[in-house]
Amino acid sequence: MKAKDSIHADLLAKGDQRAPGCSDCHGAHQIGPGALANTLDGVPCRKCHEEIYDAFRTSVHGMAKKAGTTQPPLCAACHNAHDVKPAMASRSPRDMCLTCHPSYEADHGQRLPNPKAHLEMVACTACHVPLDYKRSIYLRFTDAATGKLVRDSEMTALLKARGVTAKQIGPKELWQLYRDLNAARPVDVAVAVSIDDRLNAHYLAPKDIAVKQCEACHSADSSFFKAAAAATAGPDGQEVLQDIDRRSSVPCMVRSC
Ligand code: HEC
Ligand code: HEC
Ligand code: HEC
Ligand code: HEC
Ligand code: HEC
Ligand code: HEC
Repeated sequence: MKAKDSIHADLLAKGDQRAPGCSDCHGAHQIGPGALANTLDGVPCRKCHEEIYDAFRTSVHGMAKKAGTTQPPLCAACHNAHDVKPAMASRSPRDMCLTCHPSYEADHGQRLPNPKAHLEMVACTACHVPLDYKRSIYLRFTDAATGKLVRDSEMTALLKARGVTAKQIGPKELWQLYRDLNAARPVDVAVAVSIDDRLNAHYLAPKDIAVKQCEACHSADSSFFKAAAAATAGPDGQEVLQDIDRRSSVPCMVRSC
């Protein structure tokens, strides 16, 4: 049990009535979770996250579960049952995918010249959720020592001191922001490509409709990247996304066009 670190436990601690207690997921008599959690229809998460359940149900994993032939992940396999962390569009959980799909390099090496570079910067969902869902470029500012996202309040204060808002961050402002953040301690900035809406991350589709066109990302006017956002952390550790000028992240995207 690691409920103390979980987002649900944080809500409970704050007295938020919407948070699940044991019986929300286990039933009034602490029924073994297996019965509730191991069928698609019975997943205990469903009653509070119905919309996501609906998206998940039609995903490649939901369909496999329904067919009853394999052991695909249900909600708790990707989010844990008791240690549910805040979801982050800018850092989609790939290690968890790799535990069940360990042959990533062999699966993608034929097609991608450098699967490792893509693994670092492109979320699995960016290619495996079908084309019609929006993607964004995320700039992640992290404390180099801890790897944690920089606080949103710190970024906002630095921008304010320069007289700009997040939306006005073009290439020059980005460079300034990077230097201002680094004045306090070493800060890293990284680019990530991911699905825009975290709900849509649940529409994982079969491999034959995965994104295959390199130009989807590697072209100066990629339709994937109409939007860019800076990812920082709010007071409760949840991700805060602020729209920025798309040009500020394009230079790294088109380098390998
Ligand atoms: C958000 C839903 C949720 C909440 C809240 C929750 N659980 Fe669970 N629990 C599950 C699921 C799903 C499983 C089974 C999957 C797993 O083991 O990861 C599980 C597994 C367990 C197990 C392991 C049993 C076994 O057979 O492996 C125990 C014990 C348990 N829960 C106790 C509790 C207690 C006590 C609380 C309240 C402090 C609690 N749970 C709150 C969803 C929840
Ligand atoms: C009794 C209602 C309830 C149940 C049952 C429940 N949740 Fe939640 N969950 C919430 C609430 C309320 C929040 C916080 C508000 C929000 O972000 O939707 C939350 C937040 C989350 C988040 C973080 C979202 C974010 O914004 O970062 C995840 C992930 C999550 N739940 C997964 C699960 C999983 C997996 C289960 C089942 C094992 C589950 N929940 C069961 C009520 C519930
Ligand atoms: C195959 C892995 C996987 C499964 C299974 C899965 N999720 Fe997710 N979930 C994700 C990813 C990826 C995201 C996007 C955010 C991220 O990248 O961290 C996400 C995001 C979320 C969020 C945040 C959504 C938002 O709009 O803020 C919630 C809540 C959530 N999932 C609940 C669930 C529930 C409930 C189920 C089961 C019906 C489920 N997830 C099944 C991978 C999964
Ligand atoms: C740049 C796009 C891209 C990224 C990023 C990506 N994939 Fe794929 N993946 C594909 C394409 C395209 C195929 C189909 C390959 C084929 O059919 O030749 C595929 C195939 C697969 C398959 C099926 C393998 C098989 O042949 O049975 C799995 C499973 C898979 N990917 C999982 C993942 C996981 C997990 C991640 C993240 C760690 C990931 N992919 C990241 C594009 C991508
Ligand atoms: C608990 C294990 C598990 C986890 C975790 C998991 N998967 Fe899967 N995945 C499966 C199983 C089982 C199948 C169905 C295999 C089949 O029937 O061909 C599958 C199917 C797939 C397919 C379809 C492959 C094809 O042949 O069309 C893709 C793509 C995929 N998963 C991507 C992901 C991604 C991305 C993540 C993380 C967000 C993830 N998976 C997490 C077990 C898992
Ligand atoms: C979903 C978006 C996406 C798709 C699809 C995609 N890439 Fe990439 N690719 C990236 C990102 C992001 C980077 C890292 C940023 C950069 O170096 O420009 C990258 C990096 C690269 C690099 C440079 C790696 C390095 O070592 O610097 C090459 C070469 C490359 N991709 C080729 C391809 C080819 C060939 C395809 C099609 C088979 C492809 N990519 C499909 C997003 C994508």
